[in-house]
Amino acid sequence: MSDLAVNIGNVRLKNPVMVASGCFGVGREYGELFDLSFLGGIVTKTVTLEPREGNLPPRVWETPAGMLNSIGLANPGISAFIETEIPFFRELDCAKIISIAGKNFGEFVEIIKKIDALDCIDAIEINVSCPNVEEGGLAFGTSPETVSGLVSTVRKITEKPLWVKLTPNVTDIAEIGRSAVDAGADALCAINTLSAMEIDIGRRVSRLGNITGGLSGAAIRPVALAKVFALHRALPDVPVVGIGGITEAGDAIAHMLAGASAVQVGSGIFRSPHLPIEVVVGIDQYCEFYDFPRAEDLTGALNIEE
Ligand SMILES: Cc1cc2nc3c(=O)[nH]c(=O)nc-3n(C[C@H](O)[C@H](O)[C@H](O)COP(=O)(O)O)c2cc1C
Repeated sequence: MSDLAVNIGNVRLKNPVMVASGCFGVGREYGELFDLSFLGGIVTKTVTLEPREGNLPPRVWETPAGMLNSIGLANPGISAFIETEIPFFRELDCAKIISIAGKNFGEFVEIIKKIDALDCIDAIEINVSCPNVEEGGLAFGTSPETVSGLVSTVRKITEKPLWVKLTPNVTDIAEIGRSAVDAGADALCAINTLSAMEIDIGRRVSRLGNITGGLSGAAIRPVALAKVFALHRALPDVPVVGIGGITEAGDAIAHMLAGASAVQVGSGIFRSPHLPIEVVVGIDQYCEFYDFPRAEDLTGALNIEE
C-alpha cells in the first residue's frame, strides 16, 4: 500500500479524496452506507448567515453527461447549522471543512466569527460563486479585486486555513486564484459549476425554475482539468483541490496529474454512492502499479514536452 496522506497547507488528509460541497450534507445519510473515516475529508453544504429556502423548483435536471442544478444555497443558516449539524460532524474521523457564502463582506465576517470558535473545523472553504449584492449581483469570484478584498477582510478575523473555491465562469482563473492567495488564502479549490441551462421546447420553458443553473458531472471534467492545470502552472507552490466530473478513480488521478494536491467528488456520488471509496482504492492501485510511493507525488506529474 502506498502512503496516501496529502497536505493542503497545514491540513493533513489521510488520503486525497474529499466529498464536495452540496453533494453529501455532513455525511449523515452516507454514513449509513459506508464508514466515513475512509474519506480524506468532507466539505459541508454551503452555509449562509440567515436561513435560505433556495430557488424555485425544479432545481435539478439530468443532462447527457451530467446534471444541472439551481438549488440556490438552501440551508438552515449558520446558527441552526451549528446547533443541529456540528454535534454529528465533530465526531467524524476525517478532515472537516465548512463551506460558507455571504451576500456581502459583512456576512462572511459574521459567519466566520461563529465558526472560528469551533475547534473541530479544520478549514473554511469560501464559496465565491454566490452573488455579491453590493456589486449588482455579480458573483464575488468574477473580480480579482473583490476576491482580494474579501479574502483579506476575513483573513484578519481567523487563523483557520482559508480555501477559496473558484468559479470557472471567468476569463482567467489564474488571475483570480493569485488575488486570493496574495490576500492570504491557503488553498484554491477548482471548480464550481459552469453556468448552464436546458429548455423544454414543447412548453417553451426552462428546465429549471430559476431558468439558469450550474452544470456538473462528467461533462465538465475536461474544463475542470484545464482550470486546475492553469492554476498549478501559474501558482506551483499553492495547493489546489481539483473538483469537477470525477466519476471514477482515473478522473481523480487526472486531476492530480494536472496539478491537484487532493480532489473533491461531487455529483458523481448521486449515481454511485460508494464512489469516493472506489476513488481512494483506485488511487492506491495506480500508485502501486506506476510506482509512486506517495500519493502526493502524483501532483503535477503530467509529462509535458515543451
Ligand atoms: C446538487 C448540487 C449542489 C451543490 N451545492 C453546492 C454548494 O452549496 N456550494 C458549493 O460550493 N458548491 C456546490 N455544488 C458544486 C459542487 O460542489 C462541485 O463544485 C460541482 O458540482 C463540480 O463537481 P462535480 O462535477 O463532481 O459535481 C453543488 C453541486 C450540486 C450538483
